[in-house]
Amino acid sequence: MSMSVSDADVARPGFPRPVPDTPSNVMEQFRMTGKVVVVNGAADGIGLAVAEGMAEAGAHVALLYNSNHSAIQRAEELAKMHGVKTAAYQLDVSHAEAVEKTVDAVVKDFGKIDVFVANAGMAISKPILEQTLDEYKRQMSVNVDGVVHCAKFAGAVFQRQGHGNLIITSSMSARIVNVPVDQPVYNGTKAFVTHFGRSLAREWREFARVNVVSPGFFDTRMGAAPLCVNEAYRMSVLGRQGHVNEIKGLYLYLASDASTYTTGSDMLVDGGYTLP
Ligand SMILES: NC(=O)c1ccc[n+]([C@@H]2O[C@H](COP(=O)([O-])OP(=O)(O)OC[C@H]3O[C@@H](n4cnc5c(N)ncnc54)[C@H](OP(=O)(O)O)[C@@H]3O)[C@@H](O)[C@H]2O)c1
Repeated sequence: MSMSVSDADVARPGFPRPVPDTPSNVMEQFRMTGKVVVVNGAADGIGLAVAEGMAEAGAHVALLYNSNHSAIQRAEELAKMHGVKTAAYQLDVSHAEAVEKTVDAVVKDFGKIDVFVANAGMAISKPILEQTLDEYKRQMSVNVDGVVHCAKFAGAVFQRQGHGNLIITSSMSARIVNVPVDQPVYNGTKAFVTHFGRSLAREWREFARVNVVSPGFFDTRMGAAPLCVNEAYRMSVLGRQGHVNEIKGLYLYLASDASTYTTGSDMLVDGGYTLP
């Protein structure tokens, strides 16, 4: 950043940087053939839709899951259906060493990582005065520590490779205070990962892009709980929760060569929930 007009007038060697050699045909830009994508929280919900989207576009996909072993079968199905390489790995993202080992295993099995989608998350939606400290720590360990662990070890691979792409699933709750159920800890964890991702976009500017996706309510296990669902319909301009098919295209955009000038973005997909 320049401090004055005369500072700003000095040409910096190597600038402007060259425009990447991306295809001009937009469908070609979205093609993921030969790329390796890692998705966590991939057994179900948004993560599974993202894994499907990547395989549909031709990427090889590593599906990471925690407790839902159906990821193993989903991986086999995607490989058969789309003629790509897939594998499933069990990983609790709150354990740093396990994350490092899994990232190493994926690189060993697939040869590289082009895109890492840090999507796993959880919520214990309660006011802080009713939340135990253990519940607070659990949310921090998955939503904050888990994303930091994935970024740290995937980022090291990106730096070594000289290229990479991190996509973090945050939430509209990073920007708004949810109603009617108070959930300050979940909201705070998502605010952390949004700003963390935007900050990494600068830190990793020489070798990787980093972007954040902020969903509103999507009809998954983590979608609107019974206590919130009517308010979710009322608040959303589109009058409903999103379907996971309505968000996977954004992840594909961010993962692909269609978005080579997109970094440090926080993309909100909320059916207009946060407009009022
Ligand atoms: N649905 C919504 O309305 C909404 C709105 C805003 C943001 N989001 C965010 O979207 C992301 C995906 O959620 P979803 O809606 O697709 O719900 P979901 O189907 O419940 O997905 C959450 C995923 O996180 C994984 N996970 C939880 N704890 C983990 C741990 N310790 N280690 C590794 N993985 C763990 C779960 O894996 P297992 O099932 O294998 O245990 C699960 O696949 C989350 O980050 C969530 O905060 C969702």
